[in-house]
Amino acid sequence: MKDNATPAMVSVGLGDRSYPIHITPGILDRVGDDLKERDIARRYAVVSDAYVADLYGKRLLHSLAQVGIQAELLTFPRGEESKNLQTIAELASDLARRGFDRGDGLIALGGGVTGDITGFLASIYMRGIPFVQVPTTLLAQVDSSVGGKTGVDIPEGKNLVGTFYQPRAVYIDTDCLASLPHQELLGGLAEVIKYGVIRDERFFGYLEEHRQEVVALDREVISRVIARCCEIKARVVEEDEREGGLRRILNFGHTLGHAIEAASGFRIIHGLAIAMGMRAAADLAVRCGLLDAEEAGRIRELLVAYGMPVQVPPELDRDEIRSYLQTDKKTMAGRVFFVLPEAIGRVRITDDVRPEDIDAVLDSD
Ligand code: GLY
Repeated sequence: MKDNATPAMVSVGLGDRSYPIHITPGILDRVGDDLKERDIARRYAVVSDAYVADLYGKRLLHSLAQVGIQAELLTFPRGEESKNLQTIAELASDLARRGFDRGDGLIALGGGVTGDITGFLASIYMRGIPFVQVPTTLLAQVDSSVGGKTGVDIPEGKNLVGTFYQPRAVYIDTDCLASLPHQELLGGLAEVIKYGVIRDERFFGYLEEHRQEVVALDREVISRVIARCCEIKARVVEEDEREGGLRRILNFGHTLGHAIEAASGFRIIHGLAIAMGMRAAADLAVRCGLLDAEEAGRIRELLVAYGMPVQVPPELDRDEIRSYLQTDKKTMAGRVFFVLPEAIGRVRITDDVRPEDIDAVLDSD
């Protein structure tokens, strides 16, 4: 592993709501310096789950204290089960009791659940206070911490209550990935591969060529990979912040992936369900006459090379998967939309898909 990695900075250009994404190993210890300069809030509540707070909370608080920024740690129980309105109510009461006002801000320290909860809380507490993201999982670093989607689950579905609310800055410490369980790393890598398929054939080739360094978290390589994903996401969000059109391409693999995830009772983690969904979507594109079988094979091979599952487990009930497809957030007026590749690096959104082709790709591998 190389010791040095060039710090990278990607900017999300949204006018007066533009913000930087800093990608640097060890930046966790320097978040305070940058926040001091940016003068975003008087004091901060660092919101984290109990597990991540234990791993990284002290270091972040120390980095803030060193430059004289006041901060307090607020924790909630780890896991998707916490991503609900009850947690938001409890955290909001906690903020109010501690006297947090409109001059104060939040810092999300953790993975996607923490980022979504903290961003949502920031968007509604006192009608909106600033927040920054310090994502510690690969999935959060390449996807959920960037672009301003926030929200919580309700019993009727995941992410059904939420807002678009952009952070003021994102600090990505690639060294945090060393503590990530392998399955979670793979889940994040599925989203990484997604960016290559939807937008950048050269990046896809880079992922083919540098697989060993990526998986070994070589500092230089993983920083480049994360920076490229953030860059692609930033350009998409700049063009379509509220998912009226282009942003929907970020859902490649997610139509079937979400249905697979839900039908498994969430035992299959998000990223791995997306890997299965991307393989199935590529096969669907071949069946629709949009994509060469060879290109679909390349997508499948890359997923397999990284150690991702591509076959939908035979024990998952196909009827249940089909019924989740109908209730997905991306389904509009009963029409189920798919993001299908036309080539590696280019996708189209369509609902012109035959049910028998969906059945076939669920059962192929
Ligand atoms: N995760 C997809 C998006 O941010 O639009």
